[in-house]
Amino acid sequence: PLTGTGRAHAKAILVGEHAVVYGAPALAIPIPELSVRATLEAAPAPAVASSLYRGPLADAPPRLAPLTAAVEAARHRLGLPPLSVTVLSTIPTARGLGSSAAVASAIVAAAADAAGVRLGPDERYALVQQSERAAHGAPSGIDARAVAADTAIRFSVVETPAPVVVTAPVAFVVADSGVRRSSADAVDRVRVLRQADRRAVDRIVAELGDIADPAAQALAAARADELGDLLERAHGLLRRLRVSTPRLDALVDAARRGGSPGAKLTGGGRGGCIVAVAPHPDGAARLVSVLRDAGAARVWTTVIGGDGPR
Ligand code: PMV
Repeated sequence: PLTGTGRAHAKAILVGEHAVVYGAPALAIPIPELSVRATLEAAPAPAVASSLYRGPLADAPPRLAPLTAAVEAARHRLGLPPLSVTVLSTIPTARGLGSSAAVASAIVAAAADAAGVRLGPDERYALVQQSERAAHGAPSGIDARAVAADTAIRFSVVETPAPVVVTAPVAFVVADSGVRRSSADAVDRVRVLRQADRRAVDRIVAELGDIADPAAQALAAARADELGDLLERAHGLLRRLRVSTPRLDALVDAARRGGSPGAKLTGGGRGGCIVAVAPHPDGAARLVSVLRDAGAARVWTTVIGGDGPR
């Protein structure tokens, strides 16, 4: 019987959210601790089973648009029969962690598995982007790349994404403010701000873009203090784009009090999460408890680099 499985993981943007929409380079890391697994099976009628909804694909609620769009895009491209899809995810939704792109990416991989087709990363990316566009507007593509990458990546809309090889372990702590928000709304607010003051916004975008490569180099060389300083600068610039909130600022301040060399909001902002550099690879524990005390709804730790490909 026709069946296939696929996986993808969460991501955090270290530098360049919003700026990437206007052509600036950005830097993202995978968060393999949070992931999605999709299973597809041939079925008499298309159906979905997920924590949000169980029933016919055609009746799925709007929140499942990324999922249904991915099933349709993959089925069309790979010529598959009607499918039932089961999605198991530990990535919280609407927090800037790439949940929707990860669901789409896992489904596309599962469809390729079911069809017995090897999809290259570019083809997988193109199908995920197609479903992301169908679901919510014009994403830059950083999420679609980062949720399927097993390394940190430097991403820009005008260049080929490049892996960033991290030579020694660097730990990050991600803290959820608990506030749901839509990336499309945050992107729209920045667009409106840019219409009002294009010069100021373009200057901020350029400054964010200037941080991406130094941050990639600091990450690659595991220079946590330097990376932290760059993240702090990025947070200040994102505040000027008005995508931070008092709650996110408070979590960033708490991270610093907890010993982090630097922290910032991550993803679209207006809610969602912050990402903090841990002082050293095993120095995350205190940071985690300080962030919990500061009111973070959930906190995760991830370590990147130093142990070969993950
Ligand atoms: O899905 P989020 O919240 O991580 O947002 C993606 C990053 C943005 O730059 C805000 C939007 C985009 O399409 O790149």
